[in-house]
Amino acid sequence: MKILLTGGAGYIGSHTAVELLNAGFDVVIADDFSNSSPEVIRRIEKITGKAVSVYHVDVADEKALEGVFEDNSIDGVIHFAGFKAVGESVKIPLAYYRNNIGCTLTLLETMEKFGVNIIIFSSSATVYGTPKALPLAEDMTTGPCSNPYGSTKLFIEQIIMDAAAARKELTAVLLRYFNPVGAHQSGLVGEMPNGIPNNLMPFISQVAVGKLARLNVFGNDYPTKDGTGVRDYIHVVDLAKGHVAALNYGVKNPGVEVFNLGTGIGYSVLDIVNAFVKVNQIEIPYVITDRRAGDIAECYANAEKASRLMGWKAGLTLEDMCRDTWRWQKNNPNGYE
Ligand code: WQD
Repeated sequence: MKILLTGGAGYIGSHTAVELLNAGFDVVIADDFSNSSPEVIRRIEKITGKAVSVYHVDVADEKALEGVFEDNSIDGVIHFAGFKAVGESVKIPLAYYRNNIGCTLTLLETMEKFGVNIIIFSSSATVYGTPKALPLAEDMTTGPCSNPYGSTKLFIEQIIMDAAAARKELTAVLLRYFNPVGAHQSGLVGEMPNGIPNNLMPFISQVAVGKLARLNVFGNDYPTKDGTGVRDYIHVVDLAKGHVAALNYGVKNPGVEVFNLGTGIGYSVLDIVNAFVKVNQIEIPYVITDRRAGDIAECYANAEKASRLMGWKAGLTLEDMCRDTWRWQKNNPNGYE
């Protein structure tokens, strides 16, 4: 089977490309490289020993995207393409709606035109909004989201569900990621945030490599075990394997299904810092600062449904996440540059 990865040169997309190739799928990547590097393609091919077809296109560009479908007999699509910075989305919401929703509409229309009937969508636990109860389960109410980025994910889930309701042959699997961290064990692909990292783990690894002086821990007065925020961190390789499982599930199960991709385990900020220090034997200076606006105290998944229906379960540990993050950062202090 030949699978198109929109945004496939990004952090999650590149790791998913590796797992798909390892599982015997053919991979086509369509990416505008606005938040990724062409070097990623060479790394994917080096890890797997297999070739990847690449198209430097804006997924929202109908003509360009049709060219990809004309060149390749696509059997399914994994849709990663989209802007993903929470803070930036608050500053430029219209650009986020235009890009993230525009890409999706063009993709769904093109899939219909070419008779491509399976889509796996890169959604996010952010769609749950402020958790009403924990752990978060797929049948819990979603929204309202605390930022435009999260709202684009919620709206796109609805768009895909409506499209599948109108076109019975369209199958969709919506994957709600918790907090992806880590890197492939080869140290050849990993996360390359634009500028100063917003997320915890890449910030820690940039402190470790000396690019940043210290970590600011955003608040230690939350109602959690040590007062710092608790999240469900999932190794990006486990997450990537979840996409392979979702594809295999979609092929066998027509319709629309939603899955959490998390570990079901919550770790605090200080748990992450202490694990990183212990595993990598490297100091991470930090200071406690005020809470970050919009942050919630705690968020972690009920991961049971993906295990029950897809036979997928995260297996890599917090130690693996810290070790693999550091190997990538140490070998690539400036990412793919
Ligand atoms: C984790 C914890 C912070 C940075 C975001 C998006 C979400 C998803 C994952 C895309 C929190 C604390 C962080 C720092 C800190 N992305 N922290 N100092 O906010 O849970 O989720 O990324 O889908 O949509 O919202 O992740 O890594 O930013 O924060 O103390 O420098 O680390 O307060 O408790 P978050 P994060």
